[in-house]
Amino acid sequence: MRIVKNSKLLFIVLALILVLSACSSSNNSSSNTSNNSGDENASSGDGEKVTLVYARGKDATGATDVMVEEFEKQNPNIEIEFREMPTDTGAQHDAYVTMLNAESSEIDVFDIDVIWPAEFAQAGYVLPLDRFIEKDGINMDDYNQGPVTAATFNGKQWAMPKFIDTGMLFYRSDMVSEAPKTWDDLMTQASELKGQEGTKFGYLMQAKQYEGLVCNAVEFVASYGGAFIDENGEVVINSPEAIKGISKLVEVANSDFVPGNVNTFTEVESHTAFIEGQSPFIRNWPYQYALANDEEQSKIVGNVEVAPLPEGDAGSAAALGGWMAAINKFSEHPQESWEFLKFMTGKEGQKIDAIEGSHAPTLPALFEDEEIIEANPFFGEEGFQTALEAAVSRPVAPNYPEISEIIQIHVSKAIAGEETPEEAAAAMEKEMNEKLEK
Ligand code: GLC
Repeated sequence: MRIVKNSKLLFIVLALILVLSACSSSNNSSSNTSNNSGDENASSGDGEKVTLVYARGKDATGATDVMVEEFEKQNPNIEIEFREMPTDTGAQHDAYVTMLNAESSEIDVFDIDVIWPAEFAQAGYVLPLDRFIEKDGINMDDYNQGPVTAATFNGKQWAMPKFIDTGMLFYRSDMVSEAPKTWDDLMTQASELKGQEGTKFGYLMQAKQYEGLVCNAVEFVASYGGAFIDENGEVVINSPEAIKGISKLVEVANSDFVPGNVNTFTEVESHTAFIEGQSPFIRNWPYQYALANDEEQSKIVGNVEVAPLPEGDAGSAAALGGWMAAINKFSEHPQESWEFLKFMTGKEGQKIDAIEGSHAPTLPALFEDEEIIEANPFFGEEGFQTALEAAVSRPVAPNYPEISEIIQIHVSKAIAGEETPEEAAAAMEKEMNEKLEK
C-alpha cells in the first residue's frame, strides 16, 4: 500500500531531494552566495519605518490580515504591504520565477508551496535562513519534520513551515448521516443527495488542468495502491493499481453529480459552491472548515463535518500540501523580513492562522492548544490525525513543474475521454522517464 507515514515520508523526501539534485547543485552554488545572503548587517536598522512587501495568493479566510495586523502592532517600525499573487499555485509559481529571475527586489517575503523549496533554493531565489534561526535560538525539532525536510536543501533551511495541508472530505452534517467510507459509497450518496436541500451537485472536486488536479489524482491513485514515482525515484504510474485509481477519478469527474464544468474547478470555484450550499460533499484542504463557518461568507455555518477521503482498494489517501514562507534573496530588508517570517511561522502567528483560517499548524504542540481545538474540533479528532499521518507527497524531483505538467495533461485527457486511463498511464510513464533521464 502506497500510504506513506510521515516519518518515512520525511526520509524519502530528504533522500530523493539529495540524490536527485546532487548533480546540478554544485553548478549553482556560486549564485547562492551573492547579494545580501551572508551579510549580517544588511538591515536598515536605523529606527526608520520599513515597508515590507509580502506576496501570497488571496487568503479567502482573512486569517492573513489578522496575523499582519498583530505583527504590525508588535513591530511599529515595520509596515506590511500585501501583494496579491494568483491563487492557482502554478500561476503563482511562474509569477515568482519571472520576478526572481530578473533579480527583482519588489517583494520581500513570500509564501511558497511545499513543492518548490528545492527548486527555489537551487535557483538562488531565496535567502538561507540558518543564521537567523541560530541567532534567535529557534529549534527546528519543534516543527513537523515533513515540511522542515521539504525546505532543507544542500544542508540549509530555505523556508519556514507555515501550515500543513492534507486533502479531506467535508460534508454537510444536516444532510449526511454517516460519512461515506469508500469512493463507491461516496458516489451512491452524492447521487442520492444531489438536488436535496437546494443543492445543485453531489460532490465538488478540483479537476481543472492545474496543480490541484495533481493532488486529486495522487489521492485516487494512492487509495488504490498505486503511485506516480516510488521512493527509489522509479516511475511506477503504469501499474494496474494506478490505472484503477485514474479510472475512478475519471468516473467521478464524469458523473452527473459533479458540476458539468468541473474541469474548470480549482479550490476557489469548489469552495465557493460549497459555502453557497450547492453540494453535500467537497474534497478540499482544512481552510474549508473556517470558510464554511464564516458567517459573512457562508450559508452553511455550523453544518459542516470533516472526514478522511473515501477509501479505494488500498485505503484512504490524502495528498500532502502546505505552505511555507521565505525571504527573497534580493530583498533590501532581510532582517525585518526575518522578523515578519519568524512571527508568522512561530507559535503566535500559527495560532492566529489556525483559529482564523483553520490552517493546520506545523508546530505539533499547537494541536494541544484549547483555543485552536475549540475553533477546529476536527484537529483533535482521530480522522484528522490519521489523514495527516497518511498524507502522500507528490513526486519529488528537481524539475517537479515538468513532471506535474505531464500529470496535468494526461489526467485531463483521460477526464475528457481523449485518452483511456491505460493510455494516459502509458503516456505519463514514457514522458516522465524522458524528463527524469535528462
Ligand atoms: C494547496 C496545497 C498546495 C497545493 C495546492 C494545489 O494550496 O497546500 O500544496 O499545491 O493546494 O492547488
